[in-house]
Amino acid sequence: MQDIVRQLEEKRAAAKMGGGQKRIDRQHAKSKLTARERIELLLDPGTFEEWDMFVEHRCVDFGMDQESIPGDGVVTGYGTVSGRVVFVFSQDFTVFGGSLSEAHAEKICKIMDHAMKVGAPVVGLNDSGGARIQEGVASLGGYAEVFQRNVMASGVVPQISLIMGPCAGGAVYSPAMTDFIFMVKDSSYMFVTGPEVVKTVTHEEVTHEELGGAVTHSTKSGVADRAFEDDVEALAMLRRFINYLPANNRVAPPHRPSPDPASRAEPSLDTLVPDNPTTPYDMKELILKIVDDTDFFELQPEHAKNIVVGFGRMEGYPVGIVANQPLVLAGCLDIRSAIKAARFVRFCDCFNIPIITLVDVPGFMPGTAQEYGGIIKHGAKLLYAYAEATVPKITLITRKAYGGAYDVMASKHLRGDVNLAWPSAEIAVMGPKGAVEIIFREERGNKEKIEELTEEYRKKFANPFIAGRRGYIDDVITPRLTRERICRSLAMLRDKRLENPWRKHGNIPL
Ligand code: COA
Repeated sequence: MQDIVRQLEEKRAAAKMGGGQKRIDRQHAKSKLTARERIELLLDPGTFEEWDMFVEHRCVDFGMDQESIPGDGVVTGYGTVSGRVVFVFSQDFTVFGGSLSEAHAEKICKIMDHAMKVGAPVVGLNDSGGARIQEGVASLGGYAEVFQRNVMASGVVPQISLIMGPCAGGAVYSPAMTDFIFMVKDSSYMFVTGPEVVKTVTHEEVTHEELGGAVTHSTKSGVADRAFEDDVEALAMLRRFINYLPANNRVAPPHRPSPDPASRAEPSLDTLVPDNPTTPYDMKELILKIVDDTDFFELQPEHAKNIVVGFGRMEGYPVGIVANQPLVLAGCLDIRSAIKAARFVRFCDCFNIPIITLVDVPGFMPGTAQEYGGIIKHGAKLLYAYAEATVPKITLITRKAYGGAYDVMASKHLRGDVNLAWPSAEIAVMGPKGAVEIIFREERGNKEKIEELTEEYRKKFANPFIAGRRGYIDDVITPRLTRERICRSLAMLRDKRLENPWRKHGNIPL
């Protein structure tokens, strides 16, 4: 018996060496951790239960029958993050470049199926040369099996991808269908076709990093939700991030007690909105001042900065925050910001996370670039997402809520549960100046008259009380008391029940 146990230990030790010390050293030389080192940092110490360590590929072509490495390029299993079960797969670049074979895909599918059965998140740590070239279509079939599971798991268990190396070709579509994509700067990239093919087809010269690096995707394309400095920071942030999410769509997000009192007043908020309606201010200041312990996990902070989205907690309960940012493009809605916020709203709605919407929006961005780009359809995404959402929705208008954008930003009419406004709110079809120039077109040349009429319009309409009179705003609140008022609303809404009519699925404008 002892012999057998020793043999088992030897087999395990060999499997843990992956592609061997030389390739491990090469991985380290690129400032990358190995697949197992990454899992160790992601999960609570000593909790990883590895499965399928002895799985090997079944390919016999191109000399592959002579080359088999236990585990076949991916480490899979489960463990805990802050005591909660999480399934994980971590591609091992030291084994056939982490490329995906049929057996490799089966291992990923197995943990995804289990995650669905028990209702736990799936985290993928991607580091792969793509389809195992020697296996051909068997490998492509493997990808599609994973894709199908990504779709079935969507909205059932949270799925998170952390790209920590190459991820190219068809391989990008599994992360693309997960809820969040994080990347590591300088060592990861994602693209559908690499720089060589790009050069041949479009004659563009572009590096891996420019085409699909972490900075590109977290600024230009919006494919990545965050870009981190290195593997260690990425995994630490991923642990922090998972703590905001429920295990699945049938349970509430985890509560974490906070010493921050719900009744904490913030006198500085009384002067956050400048007297001049065109002077910007930083909406993030408001967010940080109302959430527990100034703890806010922002997503896509460098992309579509005119809208801010991310997670915080109120009285220990996770909330999703969507906020117009007056510092960038005056906080207007455009294609990129509408798409960014719509996807976030839908995630929160899938996973029982209340949504707090902070509104200061002068309208939709005008121009041919926006119209030709399809702002009508893309703007509708955000409208659709808010209208469809049944989780608690609390809206606070701090300043402007003009035109169609007023409707879109979780207004009362889209089943906003609690709609509040600061006294500085201006809820109107458009800004006073524009409104007067249209209504009193004949006075356009008369500067004094226009100013006088603008002031009159401002007094009459640029306030929250007209909307308040109709019940579109539930209350006009003192800014310093914002946290308390929102906490009370959330507590009142904790057992909210609302269902949409039965249907196969809606048809959100894509
Ligand atoms: N299938 C099989 N083996 C692969 C592979 C794949 N798709 N991608 C990488 N490998 C193997 C390499 O043969 C090499 O094996 P070795 O250690 O025995 O020499 C090992 O993985 C590391 O690859 P290498 O090319 O040395 O690493 P790199 O960091 O210089 O480059 C890539 C990484 C991903 C850019 C490069 O390997 C590559 O272009 N791979 C092919 C990508 C592709 O076209 N995939 C199929 C379409 S999805």
